This record gives sequence, structure tokens and C-alpha cells, in this order.
Amino acid sequence: MAMTGREMRSWIDENGTLTLSLETVTIADPGDDEVIVRVEAAPINPSDLGLLLGPADLSSISEVGTPGKPALTFHVPTARLAGVRGRLGDSLPVGNEGAGTVVAAGRNATALLGKRVGMIGGGMYADYRRIGRPDVLELPDGVSAVDGASMFINPLTALGFVETARREGHKAIVHTAAASNLGQMLQKICLTDGVPLINIVRSPAQVEILRNIGATHILNSEEEGFSGRLVDLIAETGATVAFDSVGGGALGSMILQAMERAATRRMTRFERYGSDSFKQLYIYGVLNAAPTRLNCLAFGWQWRVSGWLLWTFLRGAGRDVEDRLRQRVVAELTTTFASTYSRTIGLGEALQPDILQAYLLKATGQKFLIDPTRD
Ligand SMILES: NC(=O)c1ccc[n+]([C@@H]2O[C@H](COP(=O)([O-])OP(=O)(O)OC[C@H]3O[C@@H](n4cnc5c(N)ncnc54)[C@H](OP(=O)(O)O)[C@@H]3O)[C@@H](O)[C@H]2O)c1
Repeated sequence: MAMTGREMRSWIDENGTLTLSLETVTIADPGDDEVIVRVEAAPINPSDLGLLLGPADLSSISEVGTPGKPALTFHVPTARLAGVRGRLGDSLPVGNEGAGTVVAAGRNATALLGKRVGMIGGGMYADYRRIGRPDVLELPDGVSAVDGASMFINPLTALGFVETARREGHKAIVHTAAASNLGQMLQKICLTDGVPLINIVRSPAQVEILRNIGATHILNSEEEGFSGRLVDLIAETGATVAFDSVGGGALGSMILQAMERAATRRMTRFERYGSDSFKQLYIYGVLNAAPTRLNCLAFGWQWRVSGWLLWTFLRGAGRDVEDRLRQRVVAELTTTFASTYSRTIGLGEALQPDILQAYLLKATGQKFLIDPTRD
């Protein structure tokens, strides 16, 4: 029997008004290989905010709903509309991943009935999510929905970095915004797997977070002498790949430059085109939305700057690799891949302006969790 529930939606109309709302939707019965999950925990990740608020001018926020049916609108500047033309007029469900309890199951999925699962696939900021079996993972006994809420995106991304580095023959990794949830996971993986990792952060508190989980190579980019120490650590570890979630500004360029300087230290004579050491910068986030500035004169000619996206990596890696990585996540869910949240909110609360401003900050240790079973 079809169920109804609330679902958070984001849509932009042709005039450039972005509306966030809670819509009541009907959830059709599950197909043979599908389940319906009551969502109990879904993180608000930086990647969710991109779809949720797109290119909106956040200062134009306006409350347009009622207490029973909250809604917010924002203005999208005309210059930014071209970049989202493909979604104009579409009411999009939001929330990449989450966890909850299976409340209905198709005939090939009845073993999951009543089980707690983690899931990936969008539309998680909702009371219920109908979803295919391949996109859910049963949680081990004693593991809560909160523990399983972030079991896909950050864990698989952190594991994907190490896989990528290994496949491309890099000996050590540089990582930016390294005290993030993802960064802490990456550090734990690298410690277990014996991969040297240079963590770049921007405050003493973040240095402390990483030191407390066993990191040894930590640099604060705000401290004097940062670039020189970066060259030293790169020379010591042999890092030739960096994963950068800051994106904008000149940090990525500084890392490539430091890799080049470390390489030229080993050279016995001057080469006009720089070292022959290949340097790879992967940009995987845009925490700083300013344009990326590359000082191409500073790092020779053996380099590449590319985007890195989990979905592209998984497609390229194949199902066997993805299954292996997923199994590791399940086995280490409450250790290596534990996420922390500063606050749990309901679906309605997520559309309150003051709360929205707080989760937009994307600050260290300030990740929010949505629990639709709350009001
Ligand atoms: N490409 C992919 O496939 C993929 C997959 C997963 C995640 N990601 C990206 O991974 C990143 C981390 O995600 P998360 O969930 O782990 O984040 P998180 O736990 O919310 O942490 C965000 C971190 O970013 C830092 N930060 C914010 N703005 C910054 C800036 N302008 N410069 C330097 N640091 C800044 C914050 O530090 P402060 O406290 O100092 O602000 C905080 O430590 C995000 O950018 C996300 O989009 C990408």
C-alpha cells in the first residue's frame, strides 16, 4: 500500500527564484528489488549544499512558508542562471546519503525487512526513501543509523584517494582542509596502510585534531614559514600527488611549486624546463569559491591539474573494487570511518533561516545531521 511522507525539494524557476520547501509525496510500493527505508539520519555535506542552494545569493533569503509547511526563497543572480539552466523548473530532491530502517521490501529483498541500513542515491532529506537493493548496505548489529548515515561519500572518497595514488605510482599524498571529517578518515587510512600523508590545515585547533588521531606531518598554512616547511616535508616523503578541497585561490599552485622545489633539490644541474618529476594536483572541492590561481612559471612542465569526483572514480574502478572498499567501510564504520556531528535537526528545522546559516558555514566539527523522525 502506497505511503506518504515529506521530502525536501529545491527548485529554481525561469525568473531566478530558488525555493526550498517540504513537499508531501506519495511513495509507491517497492519493486521486486527495492525497499522502502524510514530515514532516521542524513548528513548535510558540503556536496549537498551545492544542490540545495545552487548559485543563490544567500543574503536574499526570505521566509515564504507557514509553520506547518516551511519554505524559503532566494534570488539567483542572472549571471549565474546559465550555469544551472539544466535544472530550471525541476523540483529536485536533496540529500546524497543517509541511514534508517527498512519498513517495506519487494519480494527479492524481504531479508532486509526491519533491518537498519545505510544508503546512497539522493533524496535522503525525506521521511521515506524508496531505493534499489544495490544502493543499501545492511548495518552490523549494534550500529546505529547515526553511525551509518555518512558511510558512503566521505569514506569511499578517502579510500578512493589512496587507491588513485597507488595506481598512479605516487609514494605519498598532500591533503588540504585536512581536519575535515573526510581528512580525518584519510589520515586514519594512511596510518593503517603505511602511506605518508602531509596534512595542510589553517588553524592551531585543526593541528591538534589531527595530532590527536596520530598524524605526524601537519602544516598550518597561516603560519610563517609554511611554504618552506612544505618543501621539506615533500622532499622527506616524496609526495607527488595532492588532493585539494579548497579549490579557489593559490594553495594548489603553492603545493605544485613545493613539489617542484623538492624535486630540483635532487638535481645536480640546471634544466631550463624544470625537473622531470611528474606532479598531480586533484581538486575535489571548492571550499574557497574564488578562481583558482596557478603560477605556471613556478613548477616546470611535468604537472597536471584535474578534478576528482567520487562517482567518476567508482565508475572507472569497477564493481569489484567498489565492493572491496564498501566492505572495508562496514568493517571500520565506528573507527576509521566515524563521522562527528555538532547538531541534529528535523526536516522543518533545516528550513529555519538561523539554522540554515549555521550549517552553511562548513566549519570544522560543525557538521549537521537531519533526523526526519524529529519534528
Ligand atoms: N569530489 C568528491 O567526490 C567529494 C566527495 C566527498 C567530499 N568532497 C569534498 O570534501 C570536502 C570535505 O568534506 P567534509 O564533509 O569532510 O567537510 P567538513 O567535515 O564539513 O569540513 C569542512 C572543512 O573545510 C574547512 N574549510 C572550509 N572553508 C575553507 C576554506 N575556504 N579554506 C580552507 N579550509 C576550509 C573547514 O575548516 P574551518 O573550520 O577552518 O572553516 C573544515 O575543516 C568538501 O569540500 C566536500 O565538497 C568531495
